[in-house]
Amino acid sequence: MRIGVLTGGGDCPGLNPAIRGVVYRAFDFGDEVIGFEEGWKGLIEDKKRQLSIKDVEEIINYGGTILYTSRTNPFKEEHGPEKVIETLKKNNIDALIAIGGDDTLSVALKLHKLGVKVVGVPKTMDNDLSQTDYTFGFFTSVEVAVDALNRLRDTAKSHKRIIVLEVMGREAGWVALFTGIAGAADWILIPEEKPDYDKMCEHLKKKYEEKGYALVVVSEGIEIPTETTTEVDEFGHALLQKRGVHEYVADLISKKLGISTRSAIIGHIQRGGPPTVFDRILATRVGVKAVEMVHEGDFGKMAAISGNKVIAVPLEDAAGKQKLVDEEWIKFMKVFEK
Ligand code: F6P
Repeated sequence: MRIGVLTGGGDCPGLNPAIRGVVYRAFDFGDEVIGFEEGWKGLIEDKKRQLSIKDVEEIINYGGTILYTSRTNPFKEEHGPEKVIETLKKNNIDALIAIGGDDTLSVALKLHKLGVKVVGVPKTMDNDLSQTDYTFGFFTSVEVAVDALNRLRDTAKSHKRIIVLEVMGREAGWVALFTGIAGAADWILIPEEKPDYDKMCEHLKKKYEEKGYALVVVSEGIEIPTETTTEVDEFGHALLQKRGVHEYVADLISKKLGISTRSAIIGHIQRGGPPTVFDRILATRVGVKAVEMVHEGDFGKMAAISGNKVIAVPLEDAAGKQKLVDEEWIKFMKVFEK
């Protein structure tokens, strides 16, 4: 068989181990693996290269993706789906493995409905995909954020400050929640819960009085008021500076409590670096499973982790169904607001 593989959407640690898992398992079946570059863009523009064991054997600990990635969606490009199908035909691709988050998997589902033999491999550092317990990339990015929080603790203590750390996660609070719990933050703000700033400040004041500093983790997805300004630059352009969530929360705390406050945003630092052992194993398992699904003819599905098993679940049940932090997790988070 000739199996195509691509990585789409935002990168995250674990993509390379997943590609490696695909290539190693494909070798057992005598398959050829063709890696399409830059996600769906590679299939629109026919950019590819063959992958051998030698190409992937050492990439288990590399961040990023050797296949590059993009957010190109063929369904938003003129004749995009036709071009994808044409490239697959031209290269005699029998089946396609699409490694990606919700956008990539939604495209995979639509192509499947057009007759493409496709299997999905879920990934996202946001951990917000339904029908899978976890996605690779998540635990590594939380690990990086926890390390940042530990460093902020040192400086917060020395200067007797309150420091706010903003983490990624889109509309889902998983990254903030896990970072805050694992890094012993004093308050966590997630998009799934309406912020009670009075309660937060009251609590931070108490913690500050007890230990001389406090830490807050905030998810990028929380809503803050949009700012308008009448200021203009030297060319007369409005100086509409978008304030980060972390700056908004830090200002609010310092105004309410009159305590020296600082803030930081970890941003894309969270998306780089070697995957943790957990993510390496998870990514490898789903990569291996995807090839097995191809050989079982299990198309239109993705390789998901359920308990300790990797199972095939219909893309239809996962695509477009964001998994948000639920009541049970919020209750757990509250245990640490003491
Ligand atoms: O979905 C993953 C993610 O890292 C989000 O947490 C974040 O909002 C977004 O991607 C950033 O995307 P980009 O790399 O395009 O700036």
